[in-house]
Amino acid sequence: MNQGIENKVVVITGASSGLGEATARHLAERGAAVVLGARRSDRIDALAKELAAKGYKAKAVQTDVTDRDQVKNLVDSAVDAFGRIDVMLNNAGLMPLAPLERLKVDEWDRMIDVNIKGVLYGIAAALPHMQARKSGHIINVSSVYGHVVDPGATVYCATKHAVRALSEGLRKEVKPYNIRTTIISPGAVSTELLEHISEKDIQAGTKEFVSKIAIGPDTFARTVAFAINEPEDVDINEILFRPTAQPV
Ligand SMILES: NC(=O)c1ccc[n+]([C@@H]2O[C@H](COP(=O)([O-])OP(=O)(O)OC[C@H]3O[C@@H](n4cnc5c(N)ncnc54)[C@H](OP(=O)(O)O)[C@@H]3O)[C@@H](O)[C@H]2O)c1
Repeated sequence: MNQGIENKVVVITGASSGLGEATARHLAERGAAVVLGARRSDRIDALAKELAAKGYKAKAVQTDVTDRDQVKNLVDSAVDAFGRIDVMLNNAGLMPLAPLERLKVDEWDRMIDVNIKGVLYGIAAALPHMQARKSGHIINVSSVYGHVVDPGATVYCATKHAVRALSEGLRKEVKPYNIRTTIISPGAVSTELLEHISEKDIQAGTKEFVSKIAIGPDTFARTVAFAINEPEDVDINEILFRPTAQPV
């Protein structure tokens, strides 16, 4: 495996905005080849073009993480373009908050499909390549809500607890293959995440609270860079960070 960040091939789901986009820029600037996945192909195409124009290595592949074949295609495209995959960043996610009693069952399904099954599909796509090379790094995005449960955030919290559970199992299972695993659990970071809360009263209240304390997405990008940059015999298993002003 390459050491550090330079020349590593990093696949990022949810690269069209927020944390994924910031991380793509951060890692590309440090010499990684970034392969961008998201549904909004206009956004990832423009980002890949912008990075390539600066002399960085970037490729965009339209991907819906709820479709296993599309996630496999994303990873296989990275291997075709750059020869291997070093890092899989399973970042795509959504957080349509609402109390259970509002019965937003379609949104529960969606969170399970994207936040849990999307991560599993990312693991399924990356693992065979990494096992074959006995080298690789899988980074899964959980949340402070993977550590605590708040009323109104129950299903989202369940999905983010699930990400931590499956990441911990993965960590133990991939030891024979020299694969590293990292869970990154951010607190409130300023992104488009709150735009997808359909209940307007909840969206307004959450935005008011988050806007007072949220930190920038570069904070997340730096934690990813830290975990990747450590030497191969160092496995950074979990990073939990919050805005200093965040009480929960
Ligand atoms: N911001 C925070 O405060 C915070 C805190 C803790 C954890 N997180 C987690 O951080 C991750 C990134 O979120 P963000 O804050 O950066 O929010 P964001 O700006 O809304 O970005 C979400 C990303 O996920 C992608 N996505 C959503 N559904 C998808 C699907 N079916 N297939 C492929 N991509 C999909 C979106 O791309 P398309 O819409 O183009 O597909 C977008 O790029 C999420 O897992 C979130 O739960 C965020």
